[in-house]
Amino acid sequence: TIEQRIDLLLKEMTLEEKVGQMNQYNGFWDVTGPAPKGGSAELKYEHLRKGWVGSMLTVRGVKEVRAVQKIAVEETRLGIPLIIGFDVIHGYKTLSPIPLAEASSWDMEAIRKSAQVAAAEASASGINWTFGPNVDISRDARWGRVMEGAGEDPYLGSKVAIARVKGFQGDDLAAVNTIAACAKHFAAYGFAESGRDYNTVDVGNATLYNTILPPFKAAQEAGVRTMMNSFNILNGVPATGNSFLQRDILKGKWGFDGFVVSDWASVREMITHGFAKDGAEATLKAVKAGSDMDMESHLYISELVQLVNTGKIEIALVDDAVRRILRVKFELGLFDNPYKYLDEKREQEVIGSKANHEGVLDMAKKSIVLLRNEKNILPLKRSGQKIALIGALAADKNSPLGSWRIASEDNTAVSVLEGMQKYKENTLQYEKGSDLTVGKTTFLDELVFNTTDKSGFESAIKAAKDADVVVIVLGEHGFQSGEGRSRTQLDLPGNQQELLEAVYAANPNIVLVLNNGRPLALPWASTHIPAIVEAWHLGTEAGNAIAQVLYGDYNPSGKLPMSFPRNVGQVPIYYNQHSTGRPVDSDKNVFWSHYTDVEKTPLYPFGYGLSYTTFDYKNLKVGKATYAKGEAVTVSVAVKNTGPYDGKEVVQLYIRDIFASLSRPVKELKGFELISLKKGETKTVTFKLTDKELGFYDNDGNYLVEPGQFKVFVGTSSENVQEVGFELQY
Ligand code: IFM
Repeated sequence: TIEQRIDLLLKEMTLEEKVGQMNQYNGFWDVTGPAPKGGSAELKYEHLRKGWVGSMLTVRGVKEVRAVQKIAVEETRLGIPLIIGFDVIHGYKTLSPIPLAEASSWDMEAIRKSAQVAAAEASASGINWTFGPNVDISRDARWGRVMEGAGEDPYLGSKVAIARVKGFQGDDLAAVNTIAACAKHFAAYGFAESGRDYNTVDVGNATLYNTILPPFKAAQEAGVRTMMNSFNILNGVPATGNSFLQRDILKGKWGFDGFVVSDWASVREMITHGFAKDGAEATLKAVKAGSDMDMESHLYISELVQLVNTGKIEIALVDDAVRRILRVKFELGLFDNPYKYLDEKREQEVIGSKANHEGVLDMAKKSIVLLRNEKNILPLKRSGQKIALIGALAADKNSPLGSWRIASEDNTAVSVLEGMQKYKENTLQYEKGSDLTVGKTTFLDELVFNTTDKSGFESAIKAAKDADVVVIVLGEHGFQSGEGRSRTQLDLPGNQQELLEAVYAANPNIVLVLNNGRPLALPWASTHIPAIVEAWHLGTEAGNAIAQVLYGDYNPSGKLPMSFPRNVGQVPIYYNQHSTGRPVDSDKNVFWSHYTDVEKTPLYPFGYGLSYTTFDYKNLKVGKATYAKGEAVTVSVAVKNTGPYDGKEVVQLYIRDIFASLSRPVKELKGFELISLKKGETKTVTFKLTDKELGFYDNDGNYLVEPGQFKVFVGTSSENVQEVGFELQY
């Protein structure tokens, strides 16, 4: 068995070789971050030859991977193969939509397939392991990394986590087209104070157990083979040195038998956090806490042998970490054939294949959310129309690729302009209006936005005046969200708002297509602009997907996975909030939970999204009025397509546990189903609620299902629902 083979290997390994397995180096070029201090390429080669490196990240392509794997296998004493990691976040070279966009599809099968395509391309490039999925729940749109997650809700987030883990890992980790997944960042990284990346996290146990941890647990139950810890402190303790998270919960309670990799230099950063006085102490705390592999701190390799030799760390902890790492390598089949993933022919055939392009196009269409469509301005008429297409992002082939796409080539997205040009029976005039950015726009640069140059406004206004309909593409640059991209404003950057208002004055018949990596606050647009299409950063096929939706070749069905605020001051804003003692103004004075200057509801709520058709919900019923312990509650509803097109609808079910030993949220998503309905068709959707859906975690992490009254809400968004109730009796 694998465990016996690991036993044999552990017996043969020196302490240095064991520590080597726990050491991960970045490739010999600087791609994902600042070059590591003291880590010259030469030294890394030397360590590789000695068997002091267990994994490398960001090495890619069969040729490069073979070069490093050959050293590990043929030049080291024991020939233990490397596991090659890479950030495959939304596609590899053929890019799918950013993860937040994919989550908007609420289509778990599509998300699974999208991860499968990404795994096929990455593995064909020699990669064994992705640092994904990011399962961080976040309620703060200021945080740039919301683009990498599945939004604000732990139930949806858990389902998406499962779909992605299954997509990456498939049924057989040893198959050549699957890769190991990594649920990250364990834990609570998405709760950085004020949305500032890497900032302090201080959350209570109710939020930790009920909101933050569930998607990690779901990933673990789906068999995720690795987890990455996070940069942040959680209630004073850095996640990397956090025994409670990694030993007690993850490896203890949950029984996780894969391994934990640190985040980039997060072991060393414990010194900067003021939690470890030097590298030795950082190593000691990280290893004791259960961080099995050191990504780019270069500390395990320099400190751990000594710590074991002086009795400060038990060898059993090292053996346990190495066993976990070797286990995943065995499962990948790397010991049976370390070169099995390295096939130039497959690399040529799989990466960028037609089928992969079709796959990401399908995912892109499913990710689009229709936010507004007054007077049915959409879909666009297919002929006889003069259309003005405006906005720098409309012709941009780079921005739609989004952030975190290090294997992709720049400028390879289909732009909206290119997508719309395929519909030839209308006249299309493109005007940029204004540049979005000034200077360099790369993964590493701080972006600078154009606020001053308005020289293109005049031609844009003229084109708008001459047109029947204006399509204007505005929003964030693809590199404006992602790691290190926190914002304090959630508006349209640069002079885009000014451009929008100027164009509106010339012709109000506008379709606003948004490109963004996070919720934006657009109160003006949402009352003035008749049609708004949330198109996120949709990846390689972005322009085709958008054009097909605008022209009605695809009827949008996406729903928001994160609330859109009215202004930044409302953030964090999320639907599954608690009641407070004063939720309404019953006394007709100011002393209730609200703002004096803006409504407390979001601009667009969680779960919201329109279609070109309409749906009617009827006959919402629970199976009976009272249920005994262990019985499944059944809830059914009839949904009818009452509009002029065939369409898809995400039927959403929320519950409220009215009284409990801890206050429960006013609504919690506990079920959803994506259904297709032909024009005029009705379908009955039935949900089953079991203990798994009806309970919650107390502040000690115990799962409780408590008797009493429950409300059930079913509808088309978290706000637009109908209501029934039942009682759990025992
Ligand atoms: O996987 C990432 C992580 O999400 C952020 N820091 C760097 C890692 C490796 O690139």
